[in-house]
Amino acid sequence: MSVRRLAEEQFQPAGFSFNEENSVWAEATIRKYPEGRQQSAVIPLLMRAQEQDGWVTRAAIEFVAEKLSMPYIRVLEVATFYTQFQLKPVGTRAHVQVCGTTPCMLRGAEDLIKVCKSRIHAEPFERNADGTLSWEEVECQGACVNAPMVMIFKDSYEDLTPTQLEHIIDRFQAGKGSDIKPGPQIDRFHSAPAGGLTALTDADVKPAAKPKALPLDAETVAVPPSNAAKPVTATDETNPAIKSPADGETALPEASPKAKPAKAENVAASQPSLDDKNRPAGIEKPEVPDDLKMISGVGPKIEGILNTIGIYTFAQISGWKKAEREWVDGYLKFSGRIERDDWVKQAKALAKGGEAEYIKVFGKKPR
Ligand code: FES
Repeated sequence: MSVRRLAEEQFQPAGFSFNEENSVWAEATIRKYPEGRQQSAVIPLLMRAQEQDGWVTRAAIEFVAEKLSMPYIRVLEVATFYTQFQLKPVGTRAHVQVCGTTPCMLRGAEDLIKVCKSRIHAEPFERNADGTLSWEEVECQGACVNAPMVMIFKDSYEDLTPTQLEHIIDRFQAGKGSDIKPGPQIDRFHSAPAGGLTALTDADVKPAAKPKALPLDAETVAVPPSNAAKPVTATDETNPAIKSPADGETALPEASPKAKPAKAENVAASQPSLDDKNRPAGIEKPEVPDDLKMISGVGPKIEGILNTIGIYTFAQISGWKKAEREWVDGYLKFSGRIERDDWVKQAKALAKGGEAEYIKVFGKKPR
């Protein structure tokens, strides 16, 4: 486990802002997320900040926090959790991340680390004399079949020997890293068997026909070919079992009128009864019901369903006991979402002091 802290004061610049190109990119990226979910852009924005400055500065973390209306500590948590974020200056031409997890270790990672120590610096995260190279040991990078391997920026270099790594480091040091083709450094395609096929070598066996690709775009949800003859858009009224969470609420699977009987029975069987003793007490619709959509995780559709079971106010939700929460969770087919989004805490804040209290408790505006 590595201890990840921000760089010492002497390295920290006074401020940060995206350059013009990255500003445009950041605005477009933030817009990709549904209203109220802009915080989901935190990782792409931090990564872009790292690409711009070479590492993630404190000022960059503050900038991203402000941009996404997040408490500083939340962005700091993300930046310090993921080892993809460099928290102090690294080599300007290459920061070599050597995988040291078991498969790579068994296949020679220690020898690669020796190369880094001799060619770059005896200590990880320290730069070489001219500041162009640095290295660190990281956990599995997901290329174990091609162990041992290193990552340099966004590319992986696999099936390495110490000599090959020396060569790669030399090319990056010379500013010619792009000469090296990423991927396996031996004669194999991706993670196909090294040395050629050992099975299915019969030339008479024809490969199975490729399944026809379904057209995909941002608003299209692919349906398994066995269940559907055509791709179905997320808002396709003919298939209400698939809903887009674009309005910020969780997709709610519903029994389709065209569903097979067995499926419909299963749905009915797993949905709690309206007569269940744990069903929260409902009330008559008040003259001015609360806007339940202010609770994160409740969109117009979920609000409508809650209203049908007599739930109209924050005060009602704030008083739900565990059994009642579980009943509603089961009724909405939410799989624990009410607990995870902490509806009760949100509702308590909104019932107590509306938006102002919500901001006090959660450090951000409600939806
Ligand atoms: S163990 Fe090195 S890539 Fe998985």
